[in-house]
Amino acid sequence: MKKSYYCKRLNETLNFDALKVYYCCGTRTGPSIDIPEKGRVKEIIKKRDRLIRELARGRVPKECEGCFDLKEREDSGFHPSDWFKRLPKAKLIIVKHFKQCDCSCIYCCEQYLSKRKIVLKSKRSEYYDLLPIIEESYKRGIIDKEELDVHFQGGNVSVLEEFEPLVDIFMQNGVKRVEIATNGIKYLPKIAEIAGKTFVDVNISIDSGTRETFKKIKTVDKFEEVVENLKRYVKLPILLRLKYILVRGVNDNKEEITKYIELMKEIGIKNSELMIDQCDSEFMSGGEFKIPEYYYELFRYYKEKCKECNIEANIWEYVKEILEKGSFFK
Ligand SMILES: C[S@@+](CC[C@H](N)C(=O)[O-])C[C@H]1O[C@@H](n2cnc3c(N)ncnc32)[C@H](O)[C@@H]1O
Ligand code: SF4
Ligand code: SF4
Repeated sequence: MKKSYYCKRLNETLNFDALKVYYCCGTRTGPSIDIPEKGRVKEIIKKRDRLIRELARGRVPKECEGCFDLKEREDSGFHPSDWFKRLPKAKLIIVKHFKQCDCSCIYCCEQYLSKRKIVLKSKRSEYYDLLPIIEESYKRGIIDKEELDVHFQGGNVSVLEEFEPLVDIFMQNGVKRVEIATNGIKYLPKIAEIAGKTFVDVNISIDSGTRETFKKIKTVDKFEEVVENLKRYVKLPILLRLKYILVRGVNDNKEEITKYIELMKEIGIKNSELMIDQCDSEFMSGGEFKIPEYYYELFRYYKEKCKECNIEANIWEYVKEILEKGSFFK
């Protein structure tokens, strides 16, 4: 029987990055289309449609070859005309079409595009305006109004002029969940405005428990401001998560992790995430980055200390996988 494929990510995602729209999240090698503009929404949809149909017909696009998200299914006698009517609507929109930020983390993956310039005032994305594209996408009925999940990444939304109008258009169209990743330096009143009206997940990368370490990592002296903002956010009906990326030689020690967890306890934050710096994958010796032995002890300690303080100690699946393998490339 003829093979047929599908990909849940492709069926659900529109990932607006600076130079391209990707049709799936996370991976930069997945299928994409070049610089979007309002007038190109039709092309964005057309390419997505073509990719879905090709997979269903058993043809795997080059960018999807070998991807573990690709699923096989029996040929269901699929008819392109039927399929067109049932073309899935986007359920996940990722907003990262801007790279400006009000700090410059030493580990940041996005900074190669913003050239480490610190931006203090809100401005337009240097790449394109997303609002007209979203408006057009709603008009064309490609966004799911019942099930939409929006992730703001970037850049930092605190210095994106379009941030509030974008949140507004998603809210007006019944967005189900809004996830905002931010450094927490500037308080975002929009979060308080939408809290309780939809599910709001705010994820703040503080990466430290002290002013000195914060300054070394974020390269700005704004630790106290973040703490004050966290005290405001914690009172809202939102999921507030704090994040710590282990940066080798800077915050990869028990003392700093202890202060970070104690800070959470003091403020009343119940959810934490410990990550490995992705830049470590570039510090390769003999073709791979080996996870140092003391990282295992740090992760063990982190879990134990969080438990003691009644804090949920999250570790991403992908980080768990790296820890199990013992390296980034095995
Ligand atoms: C690029 S940031 C943009 C959002 C926001 N400015 C922030 O820092 O949360 C998106 C996410 O990528 C993560 N990130 C950036 N560089 C990373 C790295 N080298 N390793 C692991 N995560 C990284 C940040 O912690 C953040 O959660
Ligand atoms: S199969 Fe993989 S690369 Fe292709 S769209 Fe899905 S997640 Fe992206
Ligand atoms: S706050 Fe976010 S976008 Fe800004 S430099 Fe840090 S990781 Fe990058």
